[in-house]
Amino acid sequence: MQDSSIKAITWEGDHIRILDQTKLPVQEVYLECRNIEDVACAIERLSVRGAPAIGVAAAMALAMECQKVNAGTPEELMPHLEQMSIRLMNTRPTAVNLKWALKKMMDKALNSRTSDVEALKDALKQEAIRIYHDDIKINMAIGGHGQAAVPQEATVITICNTGSLATGGYGTALGVIRTAVKNGKSVFVVSSETRPLMQGSRLTAWELQKDGIPFVLIADSMAGYYMKKKGADLVITGADRIAANGDSANKIGTYSLSVLAKEHNIPFYVAAPFSTIDMSVKSGEDIPIEERPSEEITSIAGKPVAPESVNVWNPAFDVVPNSYIAGIITEGGIIRQPFNENIKKAFDEKGEEINGKS
Ligand code: MRU
Repeated sequence: MQDSSIKAITWEGDHIRILDQTKLPVQEVYLECRNIEDVACAIERLSVRGAPAIGVAAAMALAMECQKVNAGTPEELMPHLEQMSIRLMNTRPTAVNLKWALKKMMDKALNSRTSDVEALKDALKQEAIRIYHDDIKINMAIGGHGQAAVPQEATVITICNTGSLATGGYGTALGVIRTAVKNGKSVFVVSSETRPLMQGSRLTAWELQKDGIPFVLIADSMAGYYMKKKGADLVITGADRIAANGDSANKIGTYSLSVLAKEHNIPFYVAAPFSTIDMSVKSGEDIPIEERPSEEITSIAGKPVAPESVNVWNPAFDVVPNSYIAGIITEGGIIRQPFNENIKKAFDEKGEEINGKS
């Protein structure tokens, strides 16, 4: 496997460089985001997307913008940080990694005992860069644990994009696939195109092709027939928010895939860092689901594919019930049923290290 080394987000000191994912795979264009608004808009229009990547971008945005604030003391800087944090928090509601990363940054600001505002700004910069590097390490660990669930010869179905583009680097579900391949396993990937914004065909196919991992691209509606006719060994997806009982929100279409996997006796795994687990949310019912503009359904690449002014429902995510999930692959290992009990145990033991005690 080649190392594609895709860098979707990089810290450049006075700006953040973001690979504009709305243009992939046709063009590789980089955005120079120079203020909070640039980053917030990039998140909203999905130039940067994927739960961990959004968290990293938001942390970096806060660190970058605070350097420019004219504040004499840390106390004077705080209200500015809060305002910035609110703007970033309001960009996308489902991915809890955004809230998690911003809380980490605000905690850093609150707990830094310095009276020197420049030292605080520097500490925030270091924290954002640390969140970014940690995310890559965490994904490698997820890959290491998850690859054990992948047979020596395996067909793995996945949806959306969970790779280097969706994270600080390497990926969650795609990281598991990458590690399995690195470990000499023969993995064939089935990438579901992921209507309406085609993260599967535009982004996952692009990453897999760069890595030289064999795959087939299918339309979302073909997944059931693929399972019936050709078979698959696993489904592995990412997550945007996992409730305390294991119910997992992910890209729209993931729920259908889980129902189909159950019908065909194919184990369904979710790969995500602890920062995607929201212990404050009891079940999937309480996860906020983003609804996006109707044009994402009524047009493809700017071309209309529906009559004008039709009624549209466009939820960006759905929720897989915990009973359909064979395991949640985290950096601490694979959490299995009963999820209520085992998530709490895993979180108490390991999650605290990265999340801090709440
Ligand atoms: O709307 P998107 O493209 O941000 O949705 C992304 C997903 O649903 C991913 O599967 C999820 O964020 C996990 S990414 C490691």
